[in-house]
Amino acid sequence: MTKSYNAALIGCGKMGTSTFDHLVNVFPKGWLPLSHGETIEKTQNINLVALCDPDKNNLQKASQQFGIKQTYTSYEECLKDNDIHIVSIATRTPPRPDIIRAAIKSGVKAIHFEKPICQNLGEAKLLINELNNAKIKYSYGTLRRYMAAYRHAKNLINDDIIGKIKHVTVENDVTTLMWNHPHSADMLVYFSGSNTPTHVQANCSGQFDATSHIIENDLTLHHAEITFDNGVRGTISSAPGMNTRIYGDKGIITIGSDGAYITHNAMKNDFYMDTPKTIPFDVNESAMEYCFQNLVSQIDEDTIPLINGQDIIASQEILFGCAYSAQKQGVIINISDIPDEFTLLGKSSDCYA
Ligand SMILES: NC(=O)c1ccc[n+]([C@@H]2O[C@H](COP(=O)([O-])OP(=O)(O)OC[C@H]3O[C@@H](n4cnc5c(N)ncnc54)[C@H](O)[C@@H]3O)[C@@H](O)[C@H]2O)c1
Repeated sequence: MTKSYNAALIGCGKMGTSTFDHLVNVFPKGWLPLSHGETIEKTQNINLVALCDPDKNNLQKASQQFGIKQTYTSYEECLKDNDIHIVSIATRTPPRPDIIRAAIKSGVKAIHFEKPICQNLGEAKLLINELNNAKIKYSYGTLRRYMAAYRHAKNLINDDIIGKIKHVTVENDVTTLMWNHPHSADMLVYFSGSNTPTHVQANCSGQFDATSHIIENDLTLHHAEITFDNGVRGTISSAPGMNTRIYGDKGIITIGSDGAYITHNAMKNDFYMDTPKTIPFDVNESAMEYCFQNLVSQIDEDTIPLINGQDIIASQEILFGCAYSAQKQGVIINISDIPDEFTLLGKSSDCYA
């Protein structure tokens, strides 16, 4: 018999309830619905039963939008008063660790939480440990790995279409480290076939002190080179286009324009490649819908999650490695040298990532 699960949405801002207007009309297929609330509403077997936000204006708007009367300004009260099975956390980063811990303590079955998981590596390792010890199912806001185009490309790579992976490049333009590049770092982890980055070299701009263990403002990343323990190298490039390219010894797969298309170039000879061929794929749901469906099947059937704790830690290591390298004038740094307490607050204007 199909089971049904009660969900609470904690954080009823943009990502909790809607999508930036400027993106709605330009997203390729596979992005919408994007917000936690809209997606939960569309997902079979999950019922949105409670909302929480200390901002009463956002809370009231969400209450009207979703027709939910159980509203709270405190997540502790929200978790105490309701029989919640799934918690969806769409706050900014600072309160997220405490909310994850409160959800674990309340005995929920599953948590979806936004990226980045937290503001330093020590906290990330503790949180993943606590989630795993509690045997809670979880999913993460790095959504491309849940999206049809990226999953299809991964299947093609697993079927050996481009041979042994040598390099992964993510072209996400010049943008902010903590707000945007959790996605780039996750794509490197997803396609490199390793969740153990060993070295990072990066160039960032922004305000930072060369010796402090706390960087307040979100940095702008210009370029990063990452090495993984399996020998695969990754680049986060300043090139525009939102393309991810995976280079193997038999060809290249490109997921172009944020999942709008996939192309394949086969190696023609030792030096050159054939012209690219477009590879069709089906899009049956948005990344966020797939993410929540996967969360339900993890609870129901104990299926393998699409992301695991070490993947999340690895993408955090890449982000913190970029800032740590930049702080040292762009030298190559060893991931194991990043102090656990090295903290990126990710502040832009008066908000945190
Ligand atoms: N996965 C993605 O593709 C994606 C896209 C955009 C943003 N994000 C991430 O989503 C997060 C939220 O971004 P946003 O644009 O929705 O921010 P936002 O500021 O619009 O919304 C955050 C909401 O959380 C509420 N909040 C703050 N403290 C809280 C608490 N203790 N309990 C409950 N609610 C609390 C705020 O009042 C606000 O309404 C960010 O960390 C961002 O990095 C992810």
